[in-house]
Amino acid sequence: MQIVTDVQEMQARCLAAREAGKQIAFVPTMGFLHNGHRSLLDEGRKRGDLLVLSIFVNPTQFGQGEDFASYPRDLTRDAALAEEAGVDWIFAPEARQMYPRGYATYVDVEGLTDTLCGRSRPGHFRGVTTVVSKLFLIVQPHVALFGRKDFQQLAVIKRMTADLNLPVEIVGMPIVREADGLAMSSRNIYLSPAQRTQALCLVDALRLAGGLARGGERAAERLIAAARERIERELEAQVDYIQICHQLTLEDQSTVDGDSVLLLAVKVGNTRLIDNAYLFEE
Ligand code: PAJ
Repeated sequence: MQIVTDVQEMQARCLAAREAGKQIAFVPTMGFLHNGHRSLLDEGRKRGDLLVLSIFVNPTQFGQGEDFASYPRDLTRDAALAEEAGVDWIFAPEARQMYPRGYATYVDVEGLTDTLCGRSRPGHFRGVTTVVSKLFLIVQPHVALFGRKDFQQLAVIKRMTADLNLPVEIVGMPIVREADGLAMSSRNIYLSPAQRTQALCLVDALRLAGGLARGGERAAERLIAAARERIERELEAQVDYIQICHQLTLEDQSTVDGDSVLLLAVKVGNTRLIDNAYLFEE
């Protein structure tokens, strides 16, 4: 396994690999890897001859007052996990090479980004789609893997890839959870032991609403109220949003059906956590 930091070198290597007929599988991340990332790498390993992992804490997707500076970073530990997962190349560029002085080009997906995290974090998805476009053009992957943990991000990236005719297959992967149900996230490290316990309210709320839906409740409003009630029982939990959306359009639904996804963003203390589930899947 090799770690490449230079953008031009990475692009030259990937172009050469493509020309040599290699199938490139790509997993973009911000590092501080956990088993959610690992599941993407494992699938990527199966789908590509060459497995590329990027680790880049992308400044343009963090808003003012968000956790860009404190976002956890540990390249040594990440490299060990990557090696174990069979990664061929880690691409870990410097921000000043990705966004040199005079940088002025952004990719913006409209519509899908007006809701959910796009509404709470203005400019966030513009940063995500910009960096993912750049990474795709540097790494030139045939296939790229993303987690459904970031459900809206996956939808936005699929839209961008289709709209810009990018020759990349986008694969969505299931959410990987801790044994007690908490969705794995690099940000879980911020939680105190008391907050870690309280953070289970997200998965509990999803399970509660799912159970009610499968039991016959079809009114989104009542399912959302039940989820909210569960979350608001926790002292340090503060709801950012709870929405039930159509899985493809991300439009709010008033009556739930097989396309309904319940999506949550909750601050536990100062840590913003997100989670989601299809209402009719256990
Ligand atoms: P990051 O949060 O590091 O996540 C990288 C990838 O891992 C994303 O596709 C995310 O959905 C997936 N992932 C995270 N936790 C997961 C879990 N518990 N189960 C399954 N997959 C999980 O998402 C980003 O980085 C960035 O926005 C990025 C796309 C790299 C652009 O900067």
